[in-house]
Amino acid sequence: MNNFDFKNPTKIIFGKDQIKKIANEIPKDARILLLYGGGSIKQNGIYEQVKTALKDFSVEEFGGIPANPEYEVLMQALAVIKEKKITFLLAVGGGSVIDGVKFLSSAALYESENPWDILEKRIPTLKGMPFGTVLTLPATGSEMNSGAVITRAATKEKLTMGGAGLFPVFSILDPNVVASIPQRQIANGLADAFTHVLEQYMTYPIGALLQDRFAESILQTLVEVAPVILKNPADYKAAANFMWSCTMALNGLIQKGVPTDWAIHMMGHELTALYGIDHARTLAIITESHYTYNFEAKKEKLAQYAERVWGVSAGTLEEKAKAGIQKTTEFFQSLGIQTRLSAYTDKYEGTALEIARRFEERGMTALGEHRSLTPSDAKKIVEMSY
Ligand code: NZQ
Ligand code: ZN
Repeated sequence: MNNFDFKNPTKIIFGKDQIKKIANEIPKDARILLLYGGGSIKQNGIYEQVKTALKDFSVEEFGGIPANPEYEVLMQALAVIKEKKITFLLAVGGGSVIDGVKFLSSAALYESENPWDILEKRIPTLKGMPFGTVLTLPATGSEMNSGAVITRAATKEKLTMGGAGLFPVFSILDPNVVASIPQRQIANGLADAFTHVLEQYMTYPIGALLQDRFAESILQTLVEVAPVILKNPADYKAAANFMWSCTMALNGLIQKGVPTDWAIHMMGHELTALYGIDHARTLAIITESHYTYNFEAKKEKLAQYAERVWGVSAGTLEEKAKAGIQKTTEFFQSLGIQTRLSAYTDKYEGTALEIARRFEERGMTALGEHRSLTPSDAKKIVEMSY
């Protein structure tokens, strides 16, 4: 096991009817900006619950943060933060709203003129404006981590940012919110969280027995709840397990002391930037090709995963490893997710070359757990995903 530091300061408030507790978590004299997305919270009662909880506070609002949070829109919110002298941000939404708020948390205290630098120059955020979240869509884990992904439509870019200053102060996780989520987004949440675990697990054995079993138990739980929650998102037991699994998949715990990959996400982000494909679906497009291309480097863990998560007991190590890849693709497909780029766009020719060009330009020349994946490897992997 590798050496590691672990600190996660986010307070989680989990369970039924917990939204009202935000009032206990925000300083009484705070000037709050409540931020949300396209309006789902006004249809499912979450907005009302938040407003009621905040009735004794000073609250401004900013709605309309789109899926794949857009820089230009966030810059409008930043102007509101400055004009109204906001001191506390409250994100009510899924990964997009929470990530947008993380960008704002950083940009609000950023001294220099152009906040896009935070993304482009990869400036870590060590201190941000404090913010809390009310999670409405289990998927990204953003509610308990310090990363964010921001899109700039004008240049078709989707870049990551983060830093120790970007953990939410608190996050409310009420599984009742799952009842109103459309099937497509539930499938996305399952696939995204599943892939988060894979990115931190499907590398090479390093003797981290507990981390392996943490990861496998999250994968097994997602596999178990997937058909139940897809059939009935109002099933509280399934919703609670789905929600907590998504948070645990990317709150830092399972990646401590182990090598991590994240190349699937790096390639997937480009597919969203180029074609607007839902984040989780881009991961389902890349995963099989990535594991097939890097088979030799990953086969031990692939075989262990096949055995422990999918119960594959017959065959050689290579055969089990291949079965692990196959089971993963079948799992995505069981969620109703297509696993080939050509299912999403007719204009896929040239995609691989463009992604390789972007990686080269940004100096992303050493991806994967061995830092050995070059832009030319990424090109081949994306091509295999057409
Ligand atoms: O905008 P509204 O109207 O709220 O509707 C949203 C949105 O259209 C809807 N929705 C959310 N909660 C709902 C609901 N509809 C009905 N009932 C509810 N309770 O769902 C749609 C998608 O929401 P979004 O926030 O975009 O989804 P998700 O949580 O999957 O977030 C995706 C974003 O997170 C980034 C992705 O790249 C993408 O931009 N990621 C962030 C990560 C992180 N910060 O750690 C890691 C991930 O790998 C990922 O990259
Ligand atoms: Zn993801």
